[in-house]
Amino acid sequence: MRSLRPADRSAAAAKPLRGKLTSTRRDFIRGIAAAGASTAGAVAMERSGGYLFAEQALARRARNSFSDFRAIAPSSADAFEVAPGFRADVLISWGDIFRGRDRRTLRYGFNNDFLAYFPLRGNREGLLFINHEYPDPFFLHGYKPDGSPKNAAQVQEEQDSVGNSILHIRRRRNGLWKVVSPSRYNRRIYGDRPDLVFTGPLVGAPGVGTSAHGSLGNCSGGVTPWGTAVSCEENFDDYGLDVAVDVSDQYGWAQYGGRPEDAEYDPERFKKYGWVCEHDPYDPDYVGRKHTALGRFRHENAAFRHEPGKRFVVYMGDDKNNEGVYKFVSDRSFRPRRFADNRRLLESGQLYIARWEPEGRRRFARPGVTTPITATEGAGTWEPVPEEALDDTATKLRAAIGDAEYDLHYATNRPEDLEVAEDGSVFIALTNNTSVNDSHGAVRRLRERRNDPEALEFRWRDYAAGGPTGSTEPGREGFSSPDNLVFDKAANLWVVTDISTSRLNRNEYAFHRNNAMFMVPTSGRNRGIAFRFANGPVECELTGPYFTPNERTLFVNVQHPGELTGNTSSSPGIFGQEVTYTSWWPEGNKTANDNPSTPKPSTVTIMRVEEVDERDD
Ligand code: FEO
Ligand code: CA
Ligand code: CA
Ligand code: CA
Repeated sequence: MRSLRPADRSAAAAKPLRGKLTSTRRDFIRGIAAAGASTAGAVAMERSGGYLFAEQALARRARNSFSDFRAIAPSSADAFEVAPGFRADVLISWGDIFRGRDRRTLRYGFNNDFLAYFPLRGNREGLLFINHEYPDPFFLHGYKPDGSPKNAAQVQEEQDSVGNSILHIRRRRNGLWKVVSPSRYNRRIYGDRPDLVFTGPLVGAPGVGTSAHGSLGNCSGGVTPWGTAVSCEENFDDYGLDVAVDVSDQYGWAQYGGRPEDAEYDPERFKKYGWVCEHDPYDPDYVGRKHTALGRFRHENAAFRHEPGKRFVVYMGDDKNNEGVYKFVSDRSFRPRRFADNRRLLESGQLYIARWEPEGRRRFARPGVTTPITATEGAGTWEPVPEEALDDTATKLRAAIGDAEYDLHYATNRPEDLEVAEDGSVFIALTNNTSVNDSHGAVRRLRERRNDPEALEFRWRDYAAGGPTGSTEPGREGFSSPDNLVFDKAANLWVVTDISTSRLNRNEYAFHRNNAMFMVPTSGRNRGIAFRFANGPVECELTGPYFTPNERTLFVNVQHPGELTGNTSSSPGIFGQEVTYTSWWPEGNKTANDNPSTPKPSTVTIMRVEEVDERDD
């Protein structure tokens, strides 16, 4: 292992990641939406009687400092590239040390995915809540998926690398962000500790019990209107399985952990993971919760909607080929300033699954084709999920409904993030689905009947389709495989892409090159067009985009750079020999043959260049 850098290193050591910009056309993008548009996330967030996010709410209709930019060309370089006039800086990387209460040593986890900013002092100081989705055994301890057993120390290292980080950050005088360390707020949740408690109808049920050791598979998430973080446990069924069985993303913790409680990672015998979890970043003593009322499936994220006089609603997707989209309707309503009451909104209610007409999936004749053979709009209903199905929701629903009906009317093309727009409509990233030849995915828009969040009927339309546009103008070539979504205040939809690593830069994905970040205006003359704002380094996906309330900093995570290293015969990789690794980002750049380094998942800040004065620190 390489030596670890301290998280609060000096500004001089922090390497700006200003990309090489190849665009020569002056195609300056006007992303500002037409009058009346605003952001979905601009809910007034309340805590303990105070409106912490008041500035965000007041700033509605304001111009967003990110939405005018010159789009950049696709790239396969081992670099983080961003549009001209912006700079990107690494805030923290996997393995970096930060200190919590009592100066306790903490290490930043692997594969950062969801992130959200919780203000302490407006836009200058706050807490980042971050998910660490899954470990990479090769980069952690040199393990290759050859079927050989792991030892308990290796399993422990993997458990330490996942879960969540709560990170206290502040802007320096020069404008750059830094980690505040030590801080009483800084802490970690790991794959095996501390215990989280279950809430809802299945507390005490067989295999569930009353608590779980830690959290894992934390993919995306959400911020509740009462100011807590929600973290979604996605691929929970990869952890207990035997590494000798088949593929590289099974971790074998139930077999090799060596402790009796490690048996609880076996998803057949226990139901400890696969839930929507809730944490309070502001409260270091908060005991995390796992909400059984929201069902157990491969939860990607949670998007909230509350309307006066209506019950509180949560939208969720099951991120697997041919799985569904869900809605939870709480028994109660969100009530401003009732913090203790609001905290119980996720504990009781009714879960529904979407039934799509004429069918839920976009099917294509062949891989790479961009015109579907199925409808791109239609209607739908919300069908109630019985309580007996909450502990293994998709499996039990499919068994009860039958494969033919389920695949026709419930299956979709792998839902990743959902976001609720300002007008109440729901945007769903349907990332792709190889089983129906959907290579590039789409963003679907769902509107409830009469715009009522409690409605049991809806209409839908595929809003923005993935795939090459045919345009050769730099930055307008199109996107593929949408994953996380976020709206800005000007109602632009920001989309990060996740073409799987083994397919990147090949065949029908060649046009796209590396995974990237796009801005899609939702109104005006550029409505629906995806403009490329940033490119990720080799074999990564970009995750978790999130703005500060004033939208002058955009945080984004770089997940799994260099992921093929050590995992395939084409990229064998020798542990400890960085020159053999497929990415050297962020400390090096393999395509420029600059500084062979271990690739590290990292959290990046993006700001306008003029936000930072490097002479002043
Ligand atoms: Fe973890 Fe659905 O991506
Ligand atoms: Ca992902
Ligand atoms: Ca995702
Ligand atoms: Ca994905």
